[in-house]
Amino acid sequence: MRYMVTGGLGFIGSNFLQRNVVARPNDTFVNVDSCSYAANPKSVESLESAANYRFVRLDLAGGSDVRTVVTEVSPDVIVHFAAESHVDRSIRGPESFLRSNVIATHNLLEAARELWARGREGVRFHHVSTDEVFGSLGSEGAFTEETPYDPSSPYSATKAASDHLVRAWHRTFGLPVTISNCSNNYGPRQHPEKLIPLMILNAKAGHALPVYGEGANIRDWLHVDDHCAAIELILEKGQSGRTYNVGGHGERTNLQVVEAICTSMAAELGRSEASVREQIRYVQDRPGHDFRYAIDPRRIESELGWKPKWTFEDGLRETVRWYVANEAWCASAVNDDYRQWTQTHYAPPQTGTP
Ligand code: TYD
Repeated sequence: MRYMVTGGLGFIGSNFLQRNVVARPNDTFVNVDSCSYAANPKSVESLESAANYRFVRLDLAGGSDVRTVVTEVSPDVIVHFAAESHVDRSIRGPESFLRSNVIATHNLLEAARELWARGREGVRFHHVSTDEVFGSLGSEGAFTEETPYDPSSPYSATKAASDHLVRAWHRTFGLPVTISNCSNNYGPRQHPEKLIPLMILNAKAGHALPVYGEGANIRDWLHVDDHCAAIELILEKGQSGRTYNVGGHGERTNLQVVEAICTSMAAELGRSEASVREQIRYVQDRPGHDFRYAIDPRRIESELGWKPKWTFEDGLRETVRWYVANEAWCASAVNDDYRQWTQTHYAPPQTGTP
């Protein structure tokens, strides 16, 4: 099988490649990535010498180049991870999310349609999406595959649009597709703009741990390994045209997550837990901040036999250890772009008149 993995320098894509390239020597993997600010070549450094792995730099929003590359690679399977995914950045600048998430997906769908038009067997376009397309939950209930779309942020609106495109290409053109909508991922190689690596790196550096609002918002945490295992099962056994929700039964308030990180970091760094907790700062809330996400994963559990292997406690402890042990990776992620983002994003609000 020839796999085209888009966004393989990103968090989930690189973990997918790490799990599959060596384990499947008879399959080939072409990692297509635009090398945006969130891409980290270090995440796949160990795969560069593998005979069945190749990297192609490509902006999927770029138009005709996409057709050329898809035709040249001629994949049997496209796993579409590539996306801009940080809600706060989408609030600051929505336009690039339209390019990266909507236009790029359109271009890839069109290239796949053209390539596979001549009735190729066993091909599949898998679109990796988010539970944020469903909007916010109150304190009860969970998202199912039937939950109506109701996105809140520019980011989730563009992911919703891309999901609709993928479904439309299936219904209208018969493209063989599957979609997964997952809850918040965590684990190794995640960009430190996201809650868990941000808190780990800031705790280590002695910087503030910025909790939005009162830290009462709830996310349903899924280990990236469990997520990748779910995608592998969907590729193997999922039904074309079908959507699968993937969630790890890991609901926690943000404050619970941050406090658990403080506990693990204290143990790793040989500091008192109280001294790490003193770094917590309550900062201005995110506009339109969804209160709660929770996934009902019964479809993928019952139809495909998927079950998460990680408990949140074990997964978080191992994740903290990974970031503490992988200093070179962390140094590569804390680049100039990241420094600039944190300086402006977490700057104290301006007061008074200029
Ligand atoms: P994030 O990792 O940005 O994922 P998402 O917004 O896609 O769920 O944020 C997870 C939660 O953590 C979310 O409720 C916002 C909150 N948060 C903070 O409290 N402080 C931070 O510095 C960040 C980045 C997020």
